[in-house]
Amino acid sequence: MKVLVVGGAGYIGSHTVYELVRAGHQVVVYDNLSSGLMKNVHPKAQFYLGDILDQESLSSMLEAETTKGAFDVAMHFAAKLIVEESVSQPLAYYHNNVEGLRSLLSVLIKHSVRRLVFSSTAAVYGQPATNICLESDPTIPINPYGETKLACEKMIQWVAAAHDLQFCILRYFNVAGADASLEIGLQHDQLTHLIPLIMQTALGQRDMFYIFGSDYDTPDGTCIRDYIHVTDLAQAHVLGAEYLLKTDESLIANLGSGSGYSVRQVLDTTLRFLDLPYEYTSRRPGDPACLIADITHAREVLGWQPKLDLQTILQSDYDFRKKLMGG
Ligand SMILES: NC(=O)c1ccc[n+]([C@@H]2O[C@H](COP(=O)([O-])OP(=O)(O)OC[C@H]3O[C@@H](n4cnc5c(N)ncnc54)[C@H](O)[C@@H]3O)[C@@H](O)[C@H]2O)c1
Repeated sequence: MKVLVVGGAGYIGSHTVYELVRAGHQVVVYDNLSSGLMKNVHPKAQFYLGDILDQESLSSMLEAETTKGAFDVAMHFAAKLIVEESVSQPLAYYHNNVEGLRSLLSVLIKHSVRRLVFSSTAAVYGQPATNICLESDPTIPINPYGETKLACEKMIQWVAAAHDLQFCILRYFNVAGADASLEIGLQHDQLTHLIPLIMQTALGQRDMFYIFGSDYDTPDGTCIRDYIHVTDLAQAHVLGAEYLLKTDESLIANLGSGSGYSVRQVLDTTLRFLDLPYEYTSRRPGDPACLIADITHAREVLGWQPKLDLQTILQSDYDFRKKLMGG
């Protein structure tokens, strides 16, 4: 396959590029490097620096690439994704995520790229009514980030109906870990995810790890989440693209491990091999007690099965951070 990976210099996009290259596919990355890094781009991928809001730049990349061979599929990872920031800057999120997708889709359609794999999120479910989320559950986001992603999902479906576009919308749960090569991992200025925060504390880059809330309705009182290794997630994208090529179908699927771990369990698993200071503090607003993916659909339709466990996720994130420190 020849695959356009928009946002391929970022965390999940770069891991997907690594899996695409390992599977023998040809990859073109388009990214404005607003949060991604040039060093994340696989050396075998062709790189274009550009913004999805810049239709001229998108068109010239597509024209240049199409003369060498048509794209079979586009994958769209480029977005802003910090929930707290989306609350204080909703317009920036609508601009980049929703207007950015509108711009990208119009250029893709113009250049006859009619298969799209799209990064969505469990944030589209909002405060789920049940602990285990099914794709058919109500989507009622509780922050502008989730709202923009839901707007994108709907835009894709309307455009698909009008322009013969096939789509694979993937709703990620808690993504973590680093590639086994340790060449790439999660490296952002503003880290908000649980596992990197634990590892940065263990490595002395933070003074304290805080557990937000100990009185949730869960066995140990801390929030339960579904952690998926980024390599497992990336492999689902390769399968998603192959599925679009093999069938005339589209799909929406959750991607998680299908199991939940509480914050306390994640911490205890880490404490088995690392030492770190931690404290309990009050709940954060808007955190549901439990969020686990039902992954039956991705399993059945894509033939996908996550393979890497929590211990591997933790170890790989730690090893990546240690390598970044030169250790
Ligand atoms: N990281 C997670 O835990 C998580 C969970 C659920 C969903 N997602 C979704 O996955 C996708 C990728 O997330 P990530 O963690 O890899 O984020 P990331 O910030 O590491 O990657 C996003 C990439 O897109 C690029 N980009 C952003 N805006 C752009 C624009 N206007 N034009 C061109 N490039 C642009 C950035 O430079 C970056 O390389 C996002 O769409 C996000 O909503 C992520």
